[in-house]
Amino acid sequence: MHYLDHAATTDLRPEAADEWLRVAGATGNASSTHGAGQRARRILEESRERLAAALGCEPIEVVFTSGGTESVNLALQGLWRSRAEGRTGILLPDGEHHATLDTVAALAAEGAGVVAIGLDAVGRILVDAFAAALAAEGVALATALVANNEVGTINDAAALAASAAAASVPLHLDAVAAFGHLPLSFAALRGEAPAGAGLVALSVAGHKIGAPAGTGALVVARTARIAPLLHGGGQQRGLRSGTQDVAGAAAFALAAELAVGEQVAEAMRLRRLRDRLAAGIRERVPSAELLGDPDPSGRLPGNAHLLFPGAPSESLLFLLDIAGMSASAGSACQAGIAEPSHVVQALGRTETEARSVIRFTLGRTSSDDDVDAVLAVIADAYARASGSSIRGR
Ligand SMILES: Cc1ncc(COP(=O)(O)O)c(C=O)c1O
Repeated sequence: MHYLDHAATTDLRPEAADEWLRVAGATGNASSTHGAGQRARRILEESRERLAAALGCEPIEVVFTSGGTESVNLALQGLWRSRAEGRTGILLPDGEHHATLDTVAALAAEGAGVVAIGLDAVGRILVDAFAAALAAEGVALATALVANNEVGTINDAAALAASAAAASVPLHLDAVAAFGHLPLSFAALRGEAPAGAGLVALSVAGHKIGAPAGTGALVVARTARIAPLLHGGGQQRGLRSGTQDVAGAAAFALAAELAVGEQVAEAMRLRRLRDRLAAGIRERVPSAELLGDPDPSGRLPGNAHLLFPGAPSESLLFLLDIAGMSASAGSACQAGIAEPSHVVQALGRTETEARSVIRFTLGRTSSDDDVDAVLAVIADAYARASGSSIRGR
């Protein structure tokens, strides 16, 4: 099997699996005062320290969650519910992940106003437009992707955070797709922002970097005003009540340390594979077009997102799948019905184009073999998939 969907989820690192098993075998609730509880507490707090080091934040700022979706929900709902008097707007760039889009939609039903801003043709948030929208009256909070999970375009997170700080608006960054793949430091991005404003929250997920699914974290600045989603025992600064998953935290912290330690070398390795894949596909399918930033350093190292004109994504994915390759259309697929990618449409592309894309994402276990496998079948798959679309009309 050739797995080219590492952005959806990536292989569990063997070290993280071992760490999980080792810690999960010990009894003890990290909130209990007896010896067993205190041993669990020690492992938990060491894991928090190690994850904080990997994220460039203070240990107290790490709130462990169940993954990216929970982190984004805690950030957006929490910030909105603690918003400054008279402010109801949420600054929402186009092309965000559904965890963000749907949370903002739910808040809109509670009275939030949505201040939408567009992307440029490669899928990047325009910093000037972001800053101008922040200056509009009544913006309670802003959110943005560090890197787009579909087309892989990297945003200028530092500039976005600086404009939020200058406007005294709290900003959440969704770093789920970026963490472990790009250099990232919460403290550096936050800079000297005023209390409760600028970058105040940042979401990450464990299963994108080789930790078990069900692990994640929200970095919450000490001065952030944020209401909890879960009420109960008051764990984690009262921001996320509930008995803590010590084994998950330990496995996540270890996977994060490994990913961050390998990040520079791994990015170089993946860029070479990714560029070979994209160039090879375009040689074999001359009408295919690389979407996102054509500058290799402006996109996530393992991301090759291509438009295959006239070929429905589902047909291509099906043909690749039966040839033993897993990729994705990069769009939400509910009840088996693929929706046209809202991200591709945000680049100014048509709905038909947004239904004719494939996202190949490479990761730790990817090799030249995977690239060769795609290149061996892509021309034939494209011919058959585009034929199927013509027959289908
Ligand atoms: C950018 C981004 N944000 C949020 C999420 C949601 O994360 P999770 O699947 O861990 O809930 C994802 C997952 O694909 C993502 O890519």
